[in-house]
Parts: sequence; structure tokens; C-alpha cells
Amino acid sequence: MMAQPARPLVVGITGASGSIIARELVEALLERDTPVVVVASNAARMVWQEELDESYNSAVARWAEQPHFSTHAITDLFAPIASGTYPTAGMIIAPASMNAVASLAHGLTPNLLLRAADVTIKENRRLTLIPRETPLHAVHLENLLTLSRLGATILPPEPPFYLKPLDMDGVVRFVVQRALVASGVTDGLPDDMQYRDRER
Ligand SMILES: Cc1cc2nc3c(=O)[nH]c(=O)nc-3n(C[C@H](O)[C@H](O)[C@H](O)COP(=O)(O)O)c2cc1C
Repeated sequence: MMAQPARPLVVGITGASGSIIARELVEALLERDTPVVVVASNAARMVWQEELDESYNSAVARWAEQPHFSTHAITDLFAPIASGTYPTAGMIIAPASMNAVASLAHGLTPNLLLRAADVTIKENRRLTLIPRETPLHAVHLENLLTLSRLGATILPPEPPFYLKPLDMDGVVRFVVQRALVASGVTDGLPDDMQYRDRER
């Protein structure tokens, strides 16, 4: 019998601050030879340019050299990931804007990213959100609660203060590793990211 190809993980990138998390996430998945389908919103492209000093398109050109990478335009509602019949390993939205969180919490799917996320929920597949906003008001919190109750993992990009990360890169790597565990790509965190009893 022929082996089934690995199901791709969908990565949605929205226009919240934290483009670096999306970049690290996609690169970590490609390094692991995990098939990835990436969709970015128009706002995500703007924030990417602002925060990373490179265009989103140049990142896509780099990723496109890898055999396990594919992408679709945000407007492409005919892409396979818009249908529940297309098997995926779930979806991570990193970073997740409050706009995306609100849309998903209310079943609004005007573009491919939101449609793919809605499909992930309705098909009971793993959905991991890395929401980024501060402070959060009651509507943000209610929407996140709705999505949590629908089974999504809400994974705010919090620094692991107890690991004493030295810099932003350490925090980003930690958040990405947490997302890989939450979405079932890896079994657990690397040893140096696990809390251990310290010598007192
Ligand atoms: C530089 C920049 C940073 C932003 N940061 C955030 C943020 O951290 N969280 C958020 O919810 N929206 C943030 N926004 C606003 C979103 O980009 C905006 O709400 C947009 O409509 C989201 O669209 P999308 O959900 O289609 O990506 C930011 C916008 C810009 C330009």
C-alpha cells in the first residue's frame, strides 16, 4: 500500500504586531520538512515590512525554494484549504489580530485565511492562535473565550520569565516551540525550554 503524504499545516499570518513570530514559525516548520500552506492578510504584509525591514514577498520567495512550502492569495477562495474535504493537520494563526479573532468568534469568513480557520474549527482539527494586543478589552477577551470553548488553543506570545531569556529571539523561539507542541508537530519542548528545579 502507498504511504499517505503528510498532511500540511496551514499557517495564517494576520496584521497584528509580531511578524517575527510568523517568520520563525514558517522557517521552523520548513526545517522540519513539515508541509506548510501559508496565507497572509493584506495588513500582515504591511506590518511585516514595518517590523522586519523586508517585504513579505521576499520572504515568500525564500520559502518557495523549499519543496514543502506552498501559499495562496488571501482572495483565493478556490484554494483547497477553503474546503473541509481537503485534509490538513490543522492551522496556526501567528500573530492573530483582534480583527481575525473577532471574525472567527462570529463565524465570519470573508477571505481565505478566515475561511481556512473556520474550516479547521468545524472539522475539529487543531487550531492554535497566537493573539497579540495589549491591553485587552472585554470584547477581545470574550472573543478569545468563545474560540477557546470551540477548542482552539489560545497561546499569547508571553515571555517565559522563569527561563530568563536574554533577548527577543529567545522569547520568539520559545513561543514558536510552544506553538509546535500545541499543534501536534512536536511532542514536547526542547530540554533548554523546560522548567527545571534550580539549585538553591
Ligand atoms: C504596525 C501595526 C501594528 C499593529 N499591531 C496590531 C496588534 O498588535 N494587534 C491587533 O489586533 N491589530 C494590530 N494592528 C491593526 C491591524 O493590522 C488591523 O486591525 C487590520 O485590520 C487587521 O487585519 P487582518 O485581521 O486582516 O490582518 C496593527 C497595525 C499596524 C499597521
